[in-house]
Amino acid sequence: MKIAVFAGDGIGPEIMHEALRVLDALALPDVTLMEGYVGGAGYRKLGHPLHADTIRIAHEADAILFGAVGDFECDNLERHLRPEQAILGLRRELTLFANLRPATMFAGLEEMSALRPEVAGKIDMLIVRELNGDVYFGEKGIRTLDDGRRQGWDLMSYAEDEVRRIAHVAFRAAQGRKGRLCSVDKSNVLETFQLWRDVMIEVGAEYPDVALSHMYVDNAAMQLVRDPGQFDVIVTGNMFGDILSDQASMCVGSIGLLASAALGETQTQYGTKGLFEPIHGSAPDIAGQGKANPMAMILSLAIMLRHSFGLEAEAVRIEAAVAQALADGIRGGDLGGTAGTAEIGDAVLARL
Ligand code: NAD
Ligand code: IPM
Ligand code: MN
Repeated sequence: MKIAVFAGDGIGPEIMHEALRVLDALALPDVTLMEGYVGGAGYRKLGHPLHADTIRIAHEADAILFGAVGDFECDNLERHLRPEQAILGLRRELTLFANLRPATMFAGLEEMSALRPEVAGKIDMLIVRELNGDVYFGEKGIRTLDDGRRQGWDLMSYAEDEVRRIAHVAFRAAQGRKGRLCSVDKSNVLETFQLWRDVMIEVGAEYPDVALSHMYVDNAAMQLVRDPGQFDVIVTGNMFGDILSDQASMCVGSIGLLASAALGETQTQYGTKGLFEPIHGSAPDIAGQGKANPMAMILSLAIMLRHSFGLEAEAVRIEAAVAQALADGIRGGDLGGTAGTAEIGDAVLARL
């Protein structure tokens, strides 16, 4: 089982260290780790945030564990050399178009939610975020208009096949859950999302067992804090999904808890190839201080074992260990506690 390990920048290496300790503790046979440098670390070491050698490792691996990228010292570089291009590039290069971002309340954490405990307690949703299209990957630039003013522009678009393939992922996910799918769009203003809604309805005809509903993204942002328990599966575009998933994390209690899978259609001998990462970034404000919560990274490892290696029992074991640590009151600074990165890693390992 070849696992690419791209720790990245900021807290990336710190949380990756804990996830690898957990992987090590499982003592799985035949694991080969293939380390690579991405983001600012890639730029410094190899001259590029996503060097050709790193892409080669990604292609060769059965799955990728990704920490986080982002480094303010690189923010003035030309866009193609900025750290974020590493994650954007990997998602596109490997056609990882389906981003699964589950958000479920952990027992005992209701008080930590930004919402009232009785509201937060009902959270059990999956955000399916499209990852290869939208305004993220359209043509873009800053140009000077005839009258001398500068204008920034980014082209937003979705082709119908791009919407269709993420729709199928979302409908199938809903079939495996409570059978409810809410498509979040902005079809009242944007043509891109009028097509999105049309295609969702078309694909929905193939899934009579799934209840499809539609919601405008502004209302969805409001409903997510008013009554998040109403959602089962949400499917949405790249940018709306990015924003709503960070919001969902605070409904659960912390961004340090939310894991994600980026999947495509590549099958290996073990399962579906994918990239697995926390939804948060490199957290430069706490990097290097041993304060980051590694749980989202550890839970990403669990999701990787499930999707890319068919190791469901091991995935459940890790998830149960994290849940137990939280139930036992282990809290990082992000949850109002004092446990550091290594201490949280120890707590999870002890319960594994
Ligand atoms: P961020 O997610 O890095 O941090 C936001 C806030 O949440 C910060 O206060 C941070 O300390 C806190 N936080 C995040 N993860 C935490 C954890 N595990 N434990 C405790 N606290 C945690 O978002 P940002 O500050 O907007 O971005 C910082 C950098 O990360 C930027 O360069 C951005 O582009 C990048 N970024 C990368 C990814 C990725 O690699 N997938 C995702 C988001 C942001
Ligand atoms: C995420 C991040 C990335 C995104 C950035 C770093 C490119 O915010 O993974 O959520 O916007 O997709
Ligand atoms: Mn994000």
